[in-house]
Amino acid sequence: MRSDRCGELRPDDAGREVTLCGWVARRREHGEHLAFVDLRDRSGVVQCVVDGASDLRSEFVVRIVGTVRLRPEGTANPDLATGDVEVGDCTVEVLNPAEPPPFPVSDRVDADETLRLRHRYVDLRRDRMQRNLEARARVNAALRAAMERHGFLEVETPLLWVPTPEGAREFVIPSRLQPGSFYVLPQSPQLAKQLLMVGGLDRYYQIARCLRDEDLRADRQFEFTQLDLEASFVGQDDVLDVVSDAVLDATEAVVGERPEAIPRLPWTEAMERFGSDKPDLRAGPELVELGPVFAGTGFRAFAGAECIKGLRVPGQGDLGRNRLDALTETAKALGAKGLVWLRVAPGGALESPVAKFLDDEERGGLLVATAADPGDLVLVVADERSTAQAVLGQLRLDLGRPPVSTGPYRFTWVVDFPLFEGLDGDGRPVPAHHAFTMPHVDDLELLASDPLAVRSQSYDLVLNGWELGSGSIRIHRADVQARIFATLGISEEEAEARFGFLLGAFRYGAPPHGGFAVGLDRLVAILAGEDNIREVIAFPKTQSGVDPLTGAPAPVAPRLLADLGVRVLPPEG
Ligand code: AMO
Ligand code: AMP
Repeated sequence: MRSDRCGELRPDDAGREVTLCGWVARRREHGEHLAFVDLRDRSGVVQCVVDGASDLRSEFVVRIVGTVRLRPEGTANPDLATGDVEVGDCTVEVLNPAEPPPFPVSDRVDADETLRLRHRYVDLRRDRMQRNLEARARVNAALRAAMERHGFLEVETPLLWVPTPEGAREFVIPSRLQPGSFYVLPQSPQLAKQLLMVGGLDRYYQIARCLRDEDLRADRQFEFTQLDLEASFVGQDDVLDVVSDAVLDATEAVVGERPEAIPRLPWTEAMERFGSDKPDLRAGPELVELGPVFAGTGFRAFAGAECIKGLRVPGQGDLGRNRLDALTETAKALGAKGLVWLRVAPGGALESPVAKFLDDEERGGLLVATAADPGDLVLVVADERSTAQAVLGQLRLDLGRPPVSTGPYRFTWVVDFPLFEGLDGDGRPVPAHHAFTMPHVDDLELLASDPLAVRSQSYDLVLNGWELGSGSIRIHRADVQARIFATLGISEEEAEARFGFLLGAFRYGAPPHGGFAVGLDRLVAILAGEDNIREVIAFPKTQSGVDPLTGAPAPVAPRLLADLGVRVLPPEG
């Protein structure tokens, strides 16, 4: 139907007759009969000079035959890739008229999000959405190419699956042939990929859809996509190298530059320096240890504290009392007993309600340790180590964090996680990653006596403060897996009932194996300059989990429910 794409015409094409297809982006009258019609397709926009275009309206689908020519002197548009040319002597065929769009198809207009999603097919025509989905396709292609290059085999795994303990609530699908029984949509291909390793597939990958019924946020959807991978006979370094190569390729494919090799940060160091296991390396100075400075202090709030941490906030020494009080409230809400703030005055003096409780040596030591300059603000928390870290880590982000999507792209690996992140309400350890993660071999004996001290062989990939992916070396021995289930309070019978198939497989020759999953939506969002993954998903759900376009979720016909053996209860309360 067409000879060329709108956005690709250049001065070299002048004199050629072209046939273009697309949508009318804009029509501007030019004199009595002539009109400028901006014609849009996925490649971009080109200006067509049309005689008698009065019946053409925005978003009509048209075919235009005309001749490319240079625009007259002084009328070139430097903002447009095709801005040096236009298409003249046009004949126009309307392929399909259109109703006026519910919102203008323009990046300059901020339409209401529900309206955008209800008419996503119109929204997708906007330059921003087209570029985002192109970025996504480029990331997919780059990741796939990297996995193929490293000898990984693409295998598809089932969507109709069984529960897996990965922490999220699961979507449940009733079985028609076994009424009263249910499939569960996979939170990830975790168990399937481990079975593939037992099956001798050696290196597996998949661009896998995962489903989790959890609260939606800027970085969370019910359905999302992982680059999921698993390999046999590998150690942590092998996995990190492959994943690094793949995500750096993907970054280069979108932003045109390859970031530096990804640094590795042990978990304890991440917590000490950034107060977070997903540190944003862009967010200003790191936390500093002030214990030695205040070792013999007479200031009541600091004396005897397990840990004293400080944070320099560059150039924010002029924050008003209201903001400082609000910071103190935030600190308390996060569990701190209080927050000390100190302004560094032009001469280097410290201004603070507590300055009078500190002696000269302490004041000097504080300035040296934090490297604070005049005009800076310094925040100090004295508390249990984990509280001091968490509170200043959060304040560091609140005061200094650029939006996630703003470059530069600062990847980091966080390695050497603890096996358990804490205890639940029943005093049971909660896996920091998941129940299939291999403990550090030297720590196996601590499982029963001191589970929180057990180190694991797991690792996260972080980009600009977002957790981009997680992985681990797995347990491949049935006896070790059974000990972990026991520690988690999963009885032998329950383990057999839920994961018997996995434990069974481990008895038939399971190779040592490990792997990783990259959250593809998050990677694409950051690379595309978006702060919400909805913007890089063609048909996302809203914050409340609905799709305004299709109306999902929706009731189904009573017949269908009867076939499934399902009865709907009235809402509770
Ligand atoms: P995990 O649960 O950490 O690990 O998930 C891996 C990555 O998937 C992304 N992600 C999400 N993205 C969008 N919406 C969500 N609701 C969502 N949940 C997770 C994140 C996260 O880092 N099977 C293990 C991986 C492994 O051990 O190999 C797993 O799924 O970027
Ligand atoms: P107080 O001695 O409780 O009146 O506190 C004096 C100042 O120290 C106030 O600004 C408190 O917010 C602050 N403060 C109290 N406890 C701590 C703490 N553990 N860490 C940091 N600041 C604190």
